[in-house]
Amino acid sequence: MRIGILGAGHIGSTLARHFDRIGHEVVISNSRGPDTLEDVVADIGGSVRAVTAEDAARFGEVVVVSIPYGHYRDLPADALRDKVVIDTCNYYPERDGQDRELDTDTTTSSEKIKEHTGSNLVKAFNAIYWEHLRDRARPKGDPGRLAIPLSGSDDGAKAVVAGLVRDIGFDPVIAGNLGQGGRRHQPGTAVYGAELSAEESDALLHAAA
Ligand SMILES: NC(=O)c1ccc[n+]([C@@H]2O[C@H](COP(=O)([O-])OP(=O)(O)OC[C@H]3O[C@@H](n4cnc5c(N)ncnc54)[C@H](OP(=O)(O)O)[C@@H]3O)[C@@H](O)[C@H]2O)c1
Repeated sequence: MRIGILGAGHIGSTLARHFDRIGHEVVISNSRGPDTLEDVVADIGGSVRAVTAEDAARFGEVVVVSIPYGHYRDLPADALRDKVVIDTCNYYPERDGQDRELDTDTTTSSEKIKEHTGSNLVKAFNAIYWEHLRDRARPKGDPGRLAIPLSGSDDGAKAVVAGLVRDIGFDPVIAGNLGQGGRRHQPGTAVYGAELSAEESDALLHAAA
């Protein structure tokens, strides 16, 4: 599968390495351009290439958005329209600036990114600490395999993302649709940043429902 990644930081570059390792064709981007990503791409290794954010968005059959939430309006919306987008972003007001709609829980960061991009968006990989994402991949059935909660409003897109989660060595757990489901694995929830099995994660997500 062709996977484009927007954001070459902790999560974006870690996902690039995983997806390349399991045989996907991966390009990665940041806000400053591919020339600034030489060291990052060398460190990721494999066949990952650096491109512009616009080109990464156009390239991907699946596109990962992994940037500070406060920058979401800079995303190349035309290139993301109708695509399966994986949103790893979290809202941290001290980093992103205050967002009144999120502060009042009128909507969620993922719903705002979905609205801006017109994409088929799935929230995933937002609730796992990047070092756990880097180091804790395990084969199916391994007792130490960690859960990754995900949410979205399209079953087909959720199935695609769940498959990617599984293939890189984690257990996907469906939290629900993008609004209510997504709220169950945002910062401050019981599963956020927790090292949980699929069973434990599922129980906490249902308790939150
Ligand atoms: N760190 C974690 O453990 C963790 C875990 C789960 C979820 N998250 C969430 O996932 C997101 C990414 O986190 P991170 O820790 O990977 O961030 P990070 O290390 O600070 O990296 C952010 C990346 O986003 C890029 N970027 C910013 N604006 C962009 C744009 N408009 N287009 C393309 N790239 C852009 C930056 O590029 P430039 O440097 O060129 O601006 C940088 O490569 C955040 O929302 C974070 O809250 C983080």
